[in-house]
Amino acid sequence: MERRALGRTGLKVSEIGFGCWGIGKGMWKAEDATSRLALQEALGCGMNFFDTAFVYGNGHSESLVAAETAGEKGVVIASKVPPKNREWPARLDAPIGEVFPEEYVYEMGMRSFENLGRRKMDILQLHVWSDRWTDEPAWRRAFARLKDEGACDFFGVSVNDHAPGTAVKLAKSGFVDSLQVIYNIFDQSPEDELFDAARENGVGIIARVPLDEGSLSGKFTEGTRFDDWRSRYFTPERMPEVVRRVEALRKLLEKPGRTLPQAALAFCLSNKAVSSVIPGMRTLEHVRANAAVSGMRLSKGELSEIKKHRWDRNFYGKDY
Ligand SMILES: NC(=O)c1ccc[n+]([C@@H]2O[C@H](COP(=O)([O-])OP(=O)(O)OC[C@H]3O[C@@H](n4cnc5c(N)ncnc54)[C@H](OP(=O)(O)O)[C@@H]3O)[C@@H](O)[C@H]2O)c1
Repeated sequence: MERRALGRTGLKVSEIGFGCWGIGKGMWKAEDATSRLALQEALGCGMNFFDTAFVYGNGHSESLVAAETAGEKGVVIASKVPPKNREWPARLDAPIGEVFPEEYVYEMGMRSFENLGRRKMDILQLHVWSDRWTDEPAWRRAFARLKDEGACDFFGVSVNDHAPGTAVKLAKSGFVDSLQVIYNIFDQSPEDELFDAARENGVGIIARVPLDEGSLSGKFTEGTRFDDWRSRYFTPERMPEVVRRVEALRKLLEKPGRTLPQAALAFCLSNKAVSSVIPGMRTLEHVRANAAVSGMRLSKGELSEIKKHRWDRNFYGKDY
């Protein structure tokens, strides 16, 4: 498993990281015993980067990650402070006092630290963002206190869905070490501006939702229905277009020795701004298949064809 620098932090993270939302069980279904095996398998495959959050099962995902990685050297854990008003994504005009007041960020950071068994977090991220907060001192004061307390080392922000432009000012500010952003074959928008701003300023990029919540696995048909939160994301009306676009990608990218989801992850790693891509995983099989992507590269021709498959849309529901 190849590792990449996480911006200027000095941390080295596996190209393929573990997205730990699903194993938290809040909005996805998962079996703890299987999740534990998947986490162990990830370590065995050389993955050292785990992205979790307080809200992924109100500390459940954090606890699983802490338990399964305890005693392992070189592990990098990132967690997240949820917005106080519990609004995802953030309203861009929301005042900081409503979303991330200092005392609240400090207390939630300490709760994540406790959930992780007082294992210091390598990165603590704010779970939503509005660029109007960049110059607000409240969240930075809270982060500084958490660092003094020994709860975490570095700070990041998870940017609102499909809105990388709302974090360009932040990338240039010097206030954060990492940014987590949706990046996949459909949503190529971070390439427009954010990636350059991040690279020029030593900010690590964590690429989330690399499989478009599963569509880029190539497993769906027009009739696929969901028993989790995705019943609102992949509505029956949307499925025909999703499947048509994914089938076009399958023709382009699937080949012996490389599945469509593997090519989709390799696409994310083809951009040098990306430190780690974090597919959501709940099974050993997916861990193994995704770990095998490290070192796979797409050809120049494939990358230039993929540009034509950009699809700007927001199935989560809010546009900016
Ligand atoms: N606001 C935020 O900060 C935010 C929001 C979303 C996600 N995230 C982070 O990003 C991570 C990834 O996003 P995500 O989990 O929402 O979406 P994702 O990675 O785009 O997709 C997850 C889906 O991909 C499937 N999958 C994974 N590996 C596969 C493989 N090798 N073959 C076939 N299918 C595969 C999973 O299958 P199964 O259904 O079979 O498990 C699951 O349905 C999260 O876990 C979380 O850490 C952060």
